[in-house]
Amino acid sequence: MIEFKNIVKKYRTKTIINSFSLDIEAGQLVVFIGPSGCGKTTLLKMINKLIQPTSGKIYVNGKDISTMNTIELRRNIGYVIQNTGLFPHMSIKENLELIPKLKGEDPEAIAKKTEELLETVGLNPKEYLHRYPNELSGGQQQRVGVARAFSTNSDIILMDEPFSALDPVTRSSLQDELFQMQKEFNKTIIFVTHDMDEAIKIADKICILKDGDILQYDSPENILKNPANHFVEDFIGKRRVWNNPELLLAEDIMIAHPVKITGKRNVLQAIEIMKDHKVDSLMVTNKNNILIGLVTLKGIQLLNRNDAIEDVMEQNVLSVSQDANLISVLTTMNEHKIGYVPVVNYMNQLTGLITRSSILSALSSQLIDLEVAF
Ligand SMILES: Nc1ncnc2c1ncn2[C@@H]1O[C@H](COP(=O)(O)OP(=O)(O)OP(=O)(O)O)[C@@H](O)[C@H]1O
Ligand SMILES: [Mg+2]
Repeated sequence: MIEFKNIVKKYRTKTIINSFSLDIEAGQLVVFIGPSGCGKTTLLKMINKLIQPTSGKIYVNGKDISTMNTIELRRNIGYVIQNTGLFPHMSIKENLELIPKLKGEDPEAIAKKTEELLETVGLNPKEYLHRYPNELSGGQQQRVGVARAFSTNSDIILMDEPFSALDPVTRSSLQDELFQMQKEFNKTIIFVTHDMDEAIKIADKICILKDGDILQYDSPENILKNPANHFVEDFIGKRRVWNNPELLLAEDIMIAHPVKITGKRNVLQAIEIMKDHKVDSLMVTNKNNILIGLVTLKGIQLLNRNDAIEDVMEQNVLSVSQDANLISVLTTMNEHKIGYVPVVNYMNQLTGLITRSSILSALSSQLIDLEVAF
């Protein structure tokens, strides 16, 4: 959809961006984040040709934009800048309808869409259509700015710190609205911010920049779980996994090699194995390591020592998938009032065991990281 290819930007002798390449898929919301001066605005402005790269190419829908008509290109790209860029001498309605009218769209359809968009961003059309930007609060103006970006029927929307001047409550509600609108209208959005929480909340993918280089380009989950280097780690802060328990997966909190036996063993052997390993239960697996049952010391100690485990084990054992998150693991354990739960992979092979104490130690290691980090 949007492809940066070996983009270099120099101002006189100073290189701001040094060979930047990035592919943005259609329908994704990609967040550019990084320290002040790292080149975010510069990259954004290159997409609608407000800034020319020193070398390299940008392709939109496979077309080299340097060969495209600039006015035409810009009409097909919505752009929201920090101070909204609303025209002060035009009413909200005129601001929203300017580009669709220039494009010669049907006036009735335009009017209808304008009202719908205002409602989507939480402004009552009756009340706001005929006001002027200076009769709106900063947050309301930003809402109109977002509505205007969506008014153009463009596939691409560029947003440069559009919510940075807002109070946290308004900001959070606009983030929700943006997220909903993007899913509904399926736009490709590049969104610049300084705020990692904002990025995590809205992004399909986050591109972390430093000095015009990409440090990491990945989904919020992967960036939080596997930061590419120390800079990214510092940038996101260790506390984030702790703040986002859904990012801790069963495989992160399980005991990796639980004690297990095959169903062919007998009760006597099972009891010996439990004693050896100082455990009071055993997972039972078949020769392919597929979880088929479970035995507890309490359940078998009074049985005939020669009984085969596969005849006496509990079958239909509850298990969780190794990519289930902490919240769902805890919910399963609480709902079924169990103190431990086996973990399986997609083939139902046993990969681990979660117990209350393994959860506690996973969480406390997160906490210890936290104390060191702050
Ligand atoms: N016209 C210019 N002449 C010289 N240097 C420039 C010019 N425009 C931008 N720069 C420099 O290019 C670098 C990147 O600027 P840019 O505006 O892209 O940063 P940014 O990542 O958007 O920063 P911020 O987060 O502060 O908005 C900065 O160091 C800036 O000083
Ligand atoms: Mg900027």
